[in-house]
Amino acid sequence: MDRFIIKGGRKLKGAIEISGSKNAALPVLMCTLLTDEPCIINRVPDLRDVRITIKILEELGKKVSYDKGTVTVAHKHKLATAVSHDLVKQMRASFWVAGPLLARFKKAAIPLPGGCAIGVRPVDIHLKGFEKLGAKCATERGNVVIKAKKLSAAKIILSFPSVGATLNLMMCAALIKGTTVLENAAREPEVDDVIKALQSMGASIGMDEHGHIIIEGAGKLSGMNHTVIADRIETGTYLLAAAATRGDVLLKECNPQHNEILLEYLREAGFNIETGESGISISAGAKKIKPVNIKTAPYPGFATDLQAPWMTLMCLCAGAADVSEDIFENRFMHAPELVRMGADIIIDKTAAKITGVKNFTPAAVMASDLRGGAALVIAALCARGASEVERVYHIDRGYERMEEKLVGLGANIRRFNPVSAE
Ligand code: EPZ
Repeated sequence: MDRFIIKGGRKLKGAIEISGSKNAALPVLMCTLLTDEPCIINRVPDLRDVRITIKILEELGKKVSYDKGTVTVAHKHKLATAVSHDLVKQMRASFWVAGPLLARFKKAAIPLPGGCAIGVRPVDIHLKGFEKLGAKCATERGNVVIKAKKLSAAKIILSFPSVGATLNLMMCAALIKGTTVLENAAREPEVDDVIKALQSMGASIGMDEHGHIIIEGAGKLSGMNHTVIADRIETGTYLLAAAATRGDVLLKECNPQHNEILLEYLREAGFNIETGESGISISAGAKKIKPVNIKTAPYPGFATDLQAPWMTLMCLCAGAADVSEDIFENRFMHAPELVRMGADIIIDKTAAKITGVKNFTPAAVMASDLRGGAALVIAALCARGASEVERVYHIDRGYERMEEKLVGLGANIRRFNPVSAE
C-alpha cells in the first residue's frame, strides 16, 4: 500500500488548479443510465471512485472511454439491472444506480452498501422514497431488491436532506410521468450540478425558492454534453493546507460561492482571503491563528467533508476551539492520529475540544478515511521533519494527483510503496 513521505515545515506558496468535483462527477456519470444516447462528461477527475463508477457502468452494459478528463458513455447492449458486490463494497455511492435502473426497467438489485469508517451509512431514506414512487423494496441475502409494477409521481418529504437519497430519487423521478416534488432535499452544489445535467438531457427539473426539487418526468431523455463543477472540498482542503502552513496560495478554476462559510471562518481566524470570478487567494494575516468554533451541517452550512482538515488548522490556534460533527456519527478517526503528532484534542462522542499547540511533531500516521487522510497530510506539512502517512489509497479516492499539486506549492512530499521498493 502506498504511503506519503512528507518533510514538513515549509510554507505553501504558488498557484494550483482545482479539479472537477468528485461528488458531482459520480452522480452525473450515473445519469447516463437514463438514456441509450451517447453522453459526454467533461472535467471528470481521475480518481479511484471515478474508475469504480466507470467499471459499474461497463458492468451494467455501457461502453465507456475516458481520456484527458472527458468520459464518453455509449450504448452497448440492454442494461443489466444488478450490480456486483465486489464494486459496491469499494464505493458506497454505487447504490445511486438504483434510481436510474428502477426508472428504466422497474427493477434494480444492488448489494446493500456496508457501513464505512465514518458511520453506518443506512439507505432508509432512499428506500422510503422509492416506495413513495410505487416500488417495493426487500433485502435478500445482502442485496436490496427494488421492484415496481408501476411507478407514479409523488410528493416525498425526506426525513433528512440526504445528498445520496436526493440524487437517487431525482434520477428516478426524471423518467416518471407527472410531477414529483422532493421536500427537505439536499441543496449541495453537486445536487445543483446534477439538476443541470438532467436539464441538458431534456428533463424538466428545478429547485424552487423553498429548496423543493420539482421534477416533471419525461418518457425518454436524450444524451448530454456536460462539464462538471469545480471540487469545493478539494478547494477547501488546499485553503486549509495553505492556512496551516502560514503560506500564500492562489487556487484557480474554483468557485468561491461554493465555499462561502469556510472563507468566512478563515477570515475570522485571521487570514487574508481575496476572491475573483474563478479564483481564491489566501495568505497569513494576523500573527496568531484565532480559534473559531464550527458545527458541521447540510449545505450551505459547514461541510462535514472539511471538518477533518479544519480540525488540523484549529490544532495550531492560539486558544481553544470546539468542533461538532453533526452529520456522521464517527468522523473523528483522524483525531487520535493528530494527537500522536502532538495535538491536544479531547473527543466526547461527536464533539471535539481542541487546545492549540505551537506545532505538530513528525510521526508515522495512518489514514482511515478520505478526508481524515487529508487532515493528516496537512499536519505533516506543518511538522518540522519527516512524517509518513499510510494508506494513501483513501486519499486517492478524492484528491487528484495530491502529491503533484502539493509539490507545485513547494511541499516536500513523495509517494512511496514499501513493497515495490524491496
Ligand atoms: C455524500 O454522501 C457525499 N458522498 C459525502 O462525501 C458527504 O460527506 C455526504 O454526502 C454529506 O455531505 C458523495 O457525494 C459520493 P448523506 P451521502 O446521505 O450521500 C444519514 C466524501 O468525503 N442517512 O447526505 O452518503 C447518513 O448516515 C464523502 O467525499 C440516513 O440516515 O451522505 C449521514 O449520517 C464522504 N439514511 C447523513 O444522513 C439515508 O438513507 C448524511 O448522509 C441516507 C443518509
